[in-house]
Amino acid sequence: MLDIKITLTNTPKEKPVDSPKMSFGKISTDHMFVMDYNPEQGWHDARIVPYAPFQLDPATVVFHYAQELFEGLKAYRTADNKIQLFRPECNGQRMIDSSERMCIPPVPVEDFVQAVKALVEVEKDWVPHSEGTSLYIRPFVIATDVGMGVHASHNYTFCIICFPSGAYYAEGIDPVPIYVEDEYIRAAPGLTGFTKCGGNYAASILAGELAARKGYAQVLWLDGVEKKYVEEVGAMNIMFKIDGKIYTAACEGTVLPGVTRRSCIELLRDWGYEVIEGKLAIETVMQAGRDGRLEEVFGTGTAAVVSPVKELNMKGESVYINDGKIGPLTQKLYDNLTGIQWGKIEDTKGWITPVCEG
Ligand code: COI
Repeated sequence: MLDIKITLTNTPKEKPVDSPKMSFGKISTDHMFVMDYNPEQGWHDARIVPYAPFQLDPATVVFHYAQELFEGLKAYRTADNKIQLFRPECNGQRMIDSSERMCIPPVPVEDFVQAVKALVEVEKDWVPHSEGTSLYIRPFVIATDVGMGVHASHNYTFCIICFPSGAYYAEGIDPVPIYVEDEYIRAAPGLTGFTKCGGNYAASILAGELAARKGYAQVLWLDGVEKKYVEEVGAMNIMFKIDGKIYTAACEGTVLPGVTRRSCIELLRDWGYEVIEGKLAIETVMQAGRDGRLEEVFGTGTAAVVSPVKELNMKGESVYINDGKIGPLTQKLYDNLTGIQWGKIEDTKGWITPVCEG
């Protein structure tokens, strides 16, 4: 159990206009959670302080060798004005899994959840009210040793910041077009694909920019060895409904084990769908698209929630999905998942962690 010291700001900021159209992750709240690590004391000095820049030596390890990781989760305001989290312990466990791979000392799951809850309670007035909005929570850990040697840092900072947010894509729940990336790769066996480390995202930016110039919202990554099997999309996992069955890549080291991904799989199986987690060749997907058997395609992610895909473009050929409209199963998943998150549907699965009264 952390002993968290709280220092409140004397200069609270003006909050953004509360609207379903609010931006994603641009305006931070008034406070942040911070905790430090050194080999003598372990994780210590847990505190909530006014949001402020860090002062770091230019030779700090994280700036040069990217020894860091992050998480993403959300707090929701229910119709009866309660503030709640969705499966925060899954983010805590994933942060431990990322920590092991990145040689970062783990933060215990209970401490992670306690820190998130404490910060969200302090920032409860920042959890927006409008339909489709939430408070996006970004925990991260950075290596803070100073020096040019490439080795595990001895010192770290764990920080949590929050942003009142609307939809991740400008399109909202409108279907997005996706570019199938057949040159660059995101991950390969033995690398860091399963972790939430900034380096994975840095390596993805060029392909994302090139796709954006061609009018695509994101890229679909293929496996890094044969460039044959579908893996995930820039900021989300991805699922394909073909001939009534749902296919998605297995989490075997190269794909991010998404919390929304596993929640959608559970819901789909509850509803009687066959969900196949395994290798799915992009050619199988494109052929299903050509034959009219590619019924629905959707991304899943904390930021993206459940995001329909309307087009896949590979090597200049496009297949279109469900006439560019959101499919019925994608809509049902979105409604059920967000229904649980916003407290409109009873949580029979124990996915909700209450924080406080709003
Ligand atoms: C999330 O869904 O929380 C993510 O971290 C994706 C992101 C890179 C915005």
